[in-house]
Amino acid sequence: MRLLKDQDLRGKNVVLRLDLNVPIQDQRVADSTRILSSVPTIKYLIDKNCKVLLTSHLGRPEEGKFDINFSMRPVAEKLSEVLEFKIDLINSLDSNDIFNTSQVQLLENLRFFVGEKGNYEELGFQLANLGDAYIFDAFGTAHRKQASTYSAIKMAKISCAGMLLEKEVNSLNKALTSIENPFIAIVAGSKISTKLELISHLNTKADSIIVGGGIANTFLKSQGFNVGKSLVENDMVVVAKKLFLSGKILLPKEVVVADSIDSLSSEIKAIDSVDDKDKIFDMNLSDDMLNVIETSKTILWNGPIGVFEKKPFQKGTIDLAQSIAKSKAFSLAGGGETIAAINKFIDKDDVSYCSTGGGAFLEYMEGALLPSIEALGG
Ligand code: 3PG
Repeated sequence: MRLLKDQDLRGKNVVLRLDLNVPIQDQRVADSTRILSSVPTIKYLIDKNCKVLLTSHLGRPEEGKFDINFSMRPVAEKLSEVLEFKIDLINSLDSNDIFNTSQVQLLENLRFFVGEKGNYEELGFQLANLGDAYIFDAFGTAHRKQASTYSAIKMAKISCAGMLLEKEVNSLNKALTSIENPFIAIVAGSKISTKLELISHLNTKADSIIVGGGIANTFLKSQGFNVGKSLVENDMVVVAKKLFLSGKILLPKEVVVADSIDSLSSEIKAIDSVDDKDKIFDMNLSDDMLNVIETSKTILWNGPIGVFEKKPFQKGTIDLAQSIAKSKAFSLAGGGETIAAINKFIDKDDVSYCSTGGGAFLEYMEGALLPSIEALGG
């Protein structure tokens, strides 16, 4: 992969594609993790006296028109606050202001421009040639083959990976290629189907896999347990049964049930005591699970094991986060909800590496070559 540190960009005009797709609430940035992770590359370019046009998508607006609800303005404001100088917002790719106002500028949402999602070469060409170089640092979007994440990289005279992308790839490779055993994975979330590739891949690589959330319910059902009215993917029960044959998948021995997700109280039940009317919203870590976490050398975590946003169902995720924080293993976490749980319950620095990717993290960990990484020379 072509890297930023190998290019001479002193004094050049550069376009920097970031993933600033952050949650916005009431026109304000609600979580700055992705913004803060992008700062080292921005500062590096400032130090090299570059003029920088930042670009990113935000949400999933209708293509081809401006929509205030998806405007990058709150992101420009947050960035100005973090960098302590004003970042101008540029609305059009034809603007004479590009590279002519503040040293660092931010382009409006890339998904307002026709051709971004469809990977139109015209748009890719335009983005690639706005400046002297095109830097791609949007790991979270590297799994999308779009104009700014693929064509522009291919069509630029100089294109390379930024520092965040380099760090992501190095850290993720550590858990993919230079794994130290015992290697334990925690995979949770509502559906097996969205994480099937990952679980299948880990079933051949990891020594143990702890499953949680709706994924655990489907595994429990495949082993003949009654999961009551809990979230289950019935058409994946047979697949779960097959995956379970590896002998690596650890199921909970106790679950936390309630009548509804809005219940203010909950009850702990052994997995063979769940009633027809119960809904499982959390699980307790068994001694086996705590033991494999404690003795592992590599930990991969994707997905909270319970509905951690609700007090009665957060204990499982708190215990999990704390036992990972205590472990001496190389720990790697990824996915928006997982990082939100880490930020809520432990110190982010207690995890060896937190990826900024959601879908990109999953696909990378499944062993896929992501389109942007391929375009950067892979
Ligand atoms: C993400 O948040 O996973 C990335 O920014 C990609 O966003 P998308 O799923 O809307 O393409």
